[in-house]
Amino acid sequence: MARHRMLMFGGSGMAGRWVDWITGSFGDRAEIVGLVDVAPDVLESQGERLGLDSSQRFTDTATALASCEADFVGVATPPQFHEQAVVGALEAGMPVITEKPIADTLESARRMVDAADRTGLPCAVIQNYRYEPNKQEVVRLRESGELGRLQHVIGRYACDYRQPSSWGKQWRHDMDFGLLFEGSVHHFDMLRFLSGGDCETLVGFGWNPEWSSFRHFSSGMYLMKMSNGVHTFYEGNSSAAGITNCWHNEYYRAEFEEGSVEVWGTDQVAITRVGQDHETYRAPTLTWDNHQHLFAEFLDWLDGGPPSATRIQDNIQSFAMVIAAVQTTTDGQPKQISELIA
Ligand SMILES: NC(=O)c1ccc[n+]([C@@H]2O[C@H](COP(=O)([O-])OP(=O)(O)OC[C@H]3O[C@@H](n4cnc5c(N)ncnc54)[C@H](O)[C@@H]3O)[C@@H](O)[C@H]2O)c1
Repeated sequence: MARHRMLMFGGSGMAGRWVDWITGSFGDRAEIVGLVDVAPDVLESQGERLGLDSSQRFTDTATALASCEADFVGVATPPQFHEQAVVGALEAGMPVITEKPIADTLESARRMVDAADRTGLPCAVIQNYRYEPNKQEVVRLRESGELGRLQHVIGRYACDYRQPSSWGKQWRHDMDFGLLFEGSVHHFDMLRFLSGGDCETLVGFGWNPEWSSFRHFSSGMYLMKMSNGVHTFYEGNSSAAGITNCWHNEYYRAEFEEGSVEVWGTDQVAITRVGQDHETYRAPTLTWDNHQHLFAEFLDWLDGGPPSATRIQDNIQSFAMVIAAVQTTTDGQPKQISELIA
């Protein structure tokens, strides 16, 4: 099968890791033929590494989309730049895989969903944490019914980002609602995934402790009712000091009719059944995990396979939870996701 030619938006940060994964694991299926980055040093170093000549390196979106001959586009720039690249690529006839969060505003995300609907082209969103062994194991346990029915799921994220710039880049410490847009979008998506329902109603609070390194709220607690009757609860804390549950070590607990399932790390699972000893084990490994699963799934889609589970038309549900959390934090009122997505 022919290799798919890829135009890549972003060359360092998370985008640099995309380049490593695409070239290191999927070189037989995809080839980066164009690179867009606003930072000249990144464009030069990553362009050299990929063997791209000056006609394949771009500093602006429109020129790249008009002149690069590619079969699909990858976008791993900060959220406020996603729309121009994603909508532009779809309208130029190229499928897209893009980083979370979909965008920086609901209006922008809606325009991106509209473009995917209008063009009918594949558009997938990265939600890497779903593809960790123990998250897959929780879903397997729920679907098997071996612990009976599920009533609620608790999720905890807690990172010690009390120092300026400790969360990757300073822009995360300076933006409004950084916890929700950059962090919780993963955890809200996970609560959908683990519970098996979409969010119907969301209510909660956000705040910024006095010792926070963030300009805006670093912390929040949100309560959700899902479409299948399961309830979920989320504790998010980017000013954590004691017990941390940072990236790839978030803690989730699912309460079933006949026992509790806890997961932490990427593969740790603990099951406590009524009247039985606590059982801990490691979930089975996956062929591809995290981003690499999503790249494999997306390339399969391009080759005629099924659509990605995290296609934009579905993942707008997770992004709408972020918007609902922003709104309830602001006005203290419960939010209906259907009103945001309609
Ligand atoms: N899935 C995950 O686990 C995960 C982890 C970290 C970041 N992310 C996401 O990845 C995206 C990028 O985050 P980051 O921390 O790597 O950002 P970053 O600030 O490091 O930027 C990434 C790259 O994009 C370039 N860039 C910035 N603006 C651009 C533009 N307008 N056009 C072209 N290139 C541009 C930068 O120069 C840089 O090389 C965000 O959407 C973020 O939420 C996802």
